[in-house]
Amino acid sequence: MTKRIRKAVFPVAGLGTRVLPATKVIPKEMLPVVDRPVLQHCIEEAREAGIEHFVFVTGRNKQTIEDHFDLAYELEDTLQRRGKVKELEALIADTPIAGATSFTRQQAPLGLGHAVWCARDIIGDEPFAVILPDMITLPGARGSRCLEQCIKAHEEHGGNIIAVEEVPPSDTHMYGVVSVGKDFGASFEISGMVEKPPQGTAPSNLIISGRYVLEPQIFEILEKIEKGAGGEIQLTDGMKALSQSQSFYGVRFDGKTYDTGSKVGFLVANVAFALSRPDIAPAFRAELKKLVGSL
Ligand code: UTP
Repeated sequence: MTKRIRKAVFPVAGLGTRVLPATKVIPKEMLPVVDRPVLQHCIEEAREAGIEHFVFVTGRNKQTIEDHFDLAYELEDTLQRRGKVKELEALIADTPIAGATSFTRQQAPLGLGHAVWCARDIIGDEPFAVILPDMITLPGARGSRCLEQCIKAHEEHGGNIIAVEEVPPSDTHMYGVVSVGKDFGASFEISGMVEKPPQGTAPSNLIISGRYVLEPQIFEILEKIEKGAGGEIQLTDGMKALSQSQSFYGVRFDGKTYDTGSKVGFLVANVAFALSRPDIAPAFRAELKKLVGSL
């Protein structure tokens, strides 16, 4: 029996330099996609996948994240008095219950591997999920978002799970890339992984795309690991070391992943998420057609 995945780590300590100046004061995870912060989309994905406890690894200037997941007494009171019941109910439904969030700080942005390691005491000795909040996902034909598909794969195979997606071979040098071992279709055994391989050397065009299920032994490895690509402590290097003693499986997510961490990616995510919303899509589609028609 595999242990149930109850906790998810959200590393949100990065500086977001690719979307400056928007991120000078506002954390990039708090930028809105349609009408909610990027991070809220990730929390919804995690809740749908059965996550009960949300662990945020934050940094300086990220206090608004903590406030966003708290009650907003004055606002809620005003909505109540003005009879804005629908808005009030939506706010309350979005807020995690008391005790379901934890915040810890990564004091310096030493890399994603280091950020995950900062959550070790809050996670303890159980398998857990990692969600990179700049990637947000929409469901595909299987009807679920990416983390749910990863957790299903964990129930099926056990071990460690990494969501992957295809990119053009010319882009692989920008990402972590996996090699495919025994293939089961929707999932496969990972027989190797490499962070940012020099052009032309990638073992496949399947990149690590921002959702993971990891066994707690990753923490012992991350504690000792040397700095890797970009002078940062890389999660991929930690997973590679763990793969010497534990199995790793890749999940081919059948929906769509959007990278809100770059300017163009952020704009595309807004369009895609607006078109997926029944309350907004009809009016937005009409406006979009006018814009596209004038290109
Ligand atoms: P990125 O490299 O995409 O985030 O890391 P960044 O550093 O904010 O981006 P740019 O390149 O400066 O625009 C992926 C995820 O890992 C987190 C980031 O917050 C992001 O969600 N991260 C990265 C940390 O929490 N700590 C780190 O030291 C590095």
